Amino acid sequence: MATWNELFINEKFIATLPQPEVYKFIKVLEGSFPDKPLSIWDCCCGAGRHTILISQMGHKAYASDISENGINYTQKWLESNELMATLKVADMTNNPFPDTDFHGAISWDALHHNTIDNINKAVDIVYENLCAGGMFMVSLLSTKAGRPDLRGKEIEKNTFVREDGPEKGVPHHYFDEQGIRDLFRKWKIISLVDIVVTYTEVNIDHSINPFPYTKWNVIVQK
Ligand SMILES: C[S@@+](CC[C@H](N)C(=O)[O-])C[C@H]1O[C@@H](n2cnc3c(N)ncnc32)[C@H](O)[C@@H]1O
Repeated sequence: MATWNELFINEKFIATLPQPEVYKFIKVLEGSFPDKPLSIWDCCCGAGRHTILISQMGHKAYASDISENGINYTQKWLESNELMATLKVADMTNNPFPDTDFHGAISWDALHHNTIDNINKAVDIVYENLCAGGMFMVSLLSTKAGRPDLRGKEIEKNTFVREDGPEKGVPHHYFDEQGIRDLFRKWKIISLVDIVVTYTEVNIDHSINPFPYTKWNVIVQK
């Protein structure tokens, strides 16, 4: 996807601090498996902030993303911290690590960038790649987020393509609760969190907004 690839050339679009939720999820995995190190996949890793975290926490980090610039940035970032990870440029619908049994996988703010058929394919690939009892933590867009009239053109039910701004041309699929339950129908749901954030002032500058947005946070288990 050219647009994301272009965004990763610009430092201002690169999130550097990991999500605290991801740190806590890795601690949950550590408590669930006696193995050390664990094998953990950062699926759609972007510039690699969670890949770095996995490696810093002493685990075997694997990461994939469609953006070559994101993967290159991740590689350089790892090297400058003397850390290691196995990286692949890959579309979410192609399996980059078919021979690996992961204890856990993370996909933060990424899987919704597709049509629902492709998101289903991506989730099936993660399922295939996890060991029995392996867990997957995902954050996904919610139908409750933002103003529907600003989402762009609807190309299928709940999937929109923005026609301007930095995410021009990038599909966004918005999930309602049933959509989440359908997506993870094969999995055991460990945690399904409907985070609704209300911004009472409408005119905020999203490019400098430090606060969270409305979304689904999910942990599922194979
Ligand atoms: C909002 S960024 C999140 C990056 C990272 N997970 C993080 O939390 O920093 C979304 C990521 O999804 C990736 N992406 C979008 N479409 C993709 C696809 N079809 N296959 C693989 N990665 C994709 C983008 O390149 C981008 O890195």
